[in-house]
Amino acid sequence: MNDYKLIVAKALHEQLKHALDEEAIYHLLEVPKYAHLGDLAFPCFTLAKALRQAPHHISQGLVPSITSPYIDKVEAVGPYVNIFLNRQVVSQEILSIIKEQGTHYGDLTIGQGKNVTFDMSSPNIAKPMSMGHLRSTVIGASLSNIYKKIGYNTININHLGDWGTQFGKLIVAYKRWGNEDVVKADPVNELVKLYVEFHAQAEEHPELEDEARAIFKRLEDGDSEMVTLWQWFKDESIKEFEKVYSMLDVHFDYYTGEAFYNDKMAEHIEYLEKHHISEVDNNATIVRLDEEELPPALIKKSDGATLYLTRDIATAYYRHRTYDFVKSVYVVGNEQANHFKQLKAVLKKMGNDWSDDMVHVAFGLITINGRKMSTRKGEIILLEDVLNDATELALEQIELKNPNLANKKEVAAQVGIGAVVFHDLKNDRMNSFNFNVDEVVQFEGETGPYIQYSRVRALSILRKATMENLQTDTLSLVDDYAWDVIKMLREFPQAIERASKLYEPSVLSKYVIQLAQSFNKYYANSTVLADDKEKYARLVLVQAVADVLKEGLRLLSIKAPDEM
Ligand code: ARG
Repeated sequence: MNDYKLIVAKALHEQLKHALDEEAIYHLLEVPKYAHLGDLAFPCFTLAKALRQAPHHISQGLVPSITSPYIDKVEAVGPYVNIFLNRQVVSQEILSIIKEQGTHYGDLTIGQGKNVTFDMSSPNIAKPMSMGHLRSTVIGASLSNIYKKIGYNTININHLGDWGTQFGKLIVAYKRWGNEDVVKADPVNELVKLYVEFHAQAEEHPELEDEARAIFKRLEDGDSEMVTLWQWFKDESIKEFEKVYSMLDVHFDYYTGEAFYNDKMAEHIEYLEKHHISEVDNNATIVRLDEEELPPALIKKSDGATLYLTRDIATAYYRHRTYDFVKSVYVVGNEQANHFKQLKAVLKKMGNDWSDDMVHVAFGLITINGRKMSTRKGEIILLEDVLNDATELALEQIELKNPNLANKKEVAAQVGIGAVVFHDLKNDRMNSFNFNVDEVVQFEGETGPYIQYSRVRALSILRKATMENLQTDTLSLVDDYAWDVIKMLREFPQAIERASKLYEPSVLSKYVIQLAQSFNKYYANSTVLADDKEKYARLVLVQAVADVLKEGLRLLSIKAPDEM
């Protein structure tokens, strides 16, 4: 598909040969704020010096000489040259490409099959998946879809938190206050209760902490009783996580959690020691990161125990060796920003330039009633409950609006869960937000259901259309509303590319909102089904919108029902 901005830049360059190169012109071109000022505008300020003329003279001088079959009209307004594309030609081109290629337009080979790993979701076992893990899951899934779309080979990895001293605590609690049958009946909830109980009791009986450390040591040493309990907690947890992943339709290539790296750390610790990158401080092994202005990285505690960071060093090496990635993405909350800085700095000190390709895709917090959640205190909102509540709320709305809908339950899940996911992905990921399910499941405003509903509307027009005796030789549409939609359709590949470069799904969410809004204006102001010679072009346009909305939602990991 043509890049019309490039065409305009070339036409301007013909006239400005010695003053500015094509690329500079391309980057100077802007989209005017108001449609009556054209499709693109070229500001002449930067030329004033080179041409020794006032900007508004330059713009006037340029106007008569800019020509191209893709340009309809050129106007000078003060220091700007406003350019109007030839709607006839451009709309014909865009719609015929989408008609032929569906949503496979734009450069889909950017990734050249290269590997990108996504460390995403990565909840901690024996704890329920909370709203906090929703963000990592959906941002990760969406970025992975986006990278795949533009030709990368994506590898989704769930780096489960399945190792650490907390399993010592959990085993202590289970052995003291647990009961096998009770745990079996409702594993994760019971394990959380035990974990909370441990922290409550440990306040009064600090010796429990020592007991937990000793038990964790036995687990590390491979004591079969401890390993069996740990494995059981882990299996039950994964089963519960998978329920949520299937509701969200998110998939992993690997469930390689922290424990997977237990036997892969020694060689790196040795390397650190041998090359004097690490040092011993109070019996602990640390790497000083003063130059990087970071706190020292703790590699081994004084009792010899390794840490989260130690496992992440082994993980990074493993991924580099196994996947030879061009990017290794970690979708993890911003509260771990220092951890990832330390990790990259240690790897760099070990001589690994590939550590520059590790990207921490951070995100802000979700609060509930303005407060952060804490598992230790038992204040936690279960993701599964939220998704079920959202589905329930969507069902209520469907009962009101479309009680005869055939597969109501299924659609309600798509709409309710889609609303939760869209809400998460629609703002810049670093923004924190407060979550309230009633506010999220709305059919109006900038919401998932609004996008889904816009597509449902498009499909319902298409269903009403009779395709007989249509004049199919032209796909040109030139009225303002259609033109707006056509320009938005052209921007789909750019939105995908920008979202990938910035690791920012919100670029795409904002894009689908805008496309849906421009389509709804078009819909309100045109008679799509009128029997005239442009009917075919209008139907192609409506179909294109429906398809691009569906594909945009798919990339955001959201389903698009055909009716709702
Ligand atoms: N399990 C961690 C948590 O819930 C996230 C792990 C992120 N991935 C990593 N390689 N450190 O906070």
